[in-house]
Amino acid sequence: MSIHIYDFDKGVNRRGTDAKKFDPSLCPEDVLPFWIADTEFPSPVEVKEGVIKRAELGHFGYPYISNEFEKSIARWYKVRHNTDLNPDYIDYSPCVIPAIIWFVKEFSSVGDKVILQTPVYPPFHALVKNNGRQLVYNELSLKDGRYEIDFEDLEEKLKDSKAKILLICNPQNPTGRLFTKEELTKMGNLCLKYNVMIGVDEIHADIVFDGLEFVPFCSISEEFANHSVTFINPAKTFNVAGFRTAAWFTHSKEIYQRMMNQQTYNKGMGRNIFGNIALMECYNHGEDYANQCVAYLNETKNQAVKYINENIPKIHAIEPEATFMIWLDCRDLGFNTQKELSDFMFKKAKVLLNDGTTFGEEAGFGFMRFNFATPRAMVMEGLERIKKAVDNL
Ligand SMILES: Cc1ncc(COP(=O)(O)O)c(C=O)c1O
Repeated sequence: MSIHIYDFDKGVNRRGTDAKKFDPSLCPEDVLPFWIADTEFPSPVEVKEGVIKRAELGHFGYPYISNEFEKSIARWYKVRHNTDLNPDYIDYSPCVIPAIIWFVKEFSSVGDKVILQTPVYPPFHALVKNNGRQLVYNELSLKDGRYEIDFEDLEEKLKDSKAKILLICNPQNPTGRLFTKEELTKMGNLCLKYNVMIGVDEIHADIVFDGLEFVPFCSISEEFANHSVTFINPAKTFNVAGFRTAAWFTHSKEIYQRMMNQQTYNKGMGRNIFGNIALMECYNHGEDYANQCVAYLNETKNQAVKYINENIPKIHAIEPEATFMIWLDCRDLGFNTQKELSDFMFKKAKVLLNDGTTFGEEAGFGFMRFNFATPRAMVMEGLERIKKAVDNL
C-alpha cells in the first residue's frame, strides 16, 4: 500500500467554516487563533473516504454495534504503545470528559475529594465541582523550566480518607510534560497504598517529541491496570474532535461493569455512525499520518521555542515533551492581573491564546497556552506578533 504524504505546511483553511477556533465572535479577521486544542491540518484520507462511503448509503438509523470499534483501539495501543488491552473491557463514550464524569460519579460520593495536578485542562476542575466533589490540588512545581510532581504534597493529600480519586493527565495539558515510568510508578504505588482510584487521561499520548517514549499507565503493572480507567480519543492526533466519539478502558471486569452502569444510567451508549468510522479508520490505519504529523510538530516546536528564547526573553517557553501546546510563562512581562495579560495578547499582539488561569487560578497565573498545531508559517507569524507587541511595551 502506498503512503499518503500530507502537506502540513499547507494545512487547511478553516476560517469561514464551522470551526470553533475561528468563531467570528471570538476571533475577528485580524486575530490569529492559537487556542482550542485541535489542529489546522487535514484529517487522514481514510477518515474522509470512510465517511463519504458511509454517507452514500443514504440512510442514517441506529447503528449496529460490533466489537470492531474496541478491536481497533486494542490494535492501536499494541502497535503504537506496545501495550495489550482486553477488547472486552474497552468501551465507547461520547467524549473523554463524559466518561471521566461517569468515573468520578462511580468511584466517589458527593463531598469526597478528587485530586488534580495543576495547572491542568479546565474541564477537569469543572466536572469535579459540578458533581459536588471537593477539588484538591497537587500543584506541579516548575523547576529550571520543567514541571515536576511534588510527591510529598501528593502523599499528604492521598492520606486524607476523603480522597477517593487521583486524575492524571499524561501527557500533561498544558505543561507538555510526559510523565516518566518512574513518576507514574510512584504515583500508582501511592494511590494503591491509600486505596485511591486512578483515572488517566491519555488523549495526547500519540504526540511525543525528541524520541521520548510514552508509557501507558496500565502497561506498568497488572495492579495498576486493575485499579484504573484510561480515557482516550483520536481527536488530537487526527483532528477528528468534531465526531464526538471517544473511548475508555480498564483491565478489571468489576471496574468495567461499574463504568458500564454509569454509561447506562447516563444514557451515554448511543453511538454515532460517522464517529465510529472515524475512530476505527484512525486506529486501524493511522500510523503513517501520526508519524508524519508528529515529525512536523516536533520541528515546529523546536523552531518556536528557539524563536521565543532568542527574541522574546521576557517570555519563557516551557518546552513541551509531548502535546502540541507551549505553556508560556509571561510573568516577567509585569502585568498585575491576568486580564491585562490576556488583553495584551488579544488586543496588542492580535493573537488568541488560552488564558493560563483557566488551568488553575494560582498555578496558571501569568501564563498563557499556545497551540502550535498549525502550518509553521502561521506559528512564526503569531510569535512575531507577540515579539513586536512585547518590544512596544
Ligand atoms: C487533556 C484533555 N482531555 C480531554 C480533552 C477533551 O476531550 P473530549 O473532547 O473527548 O472531551 C482535551 C481537549 O483539549 C484535553 O486536552
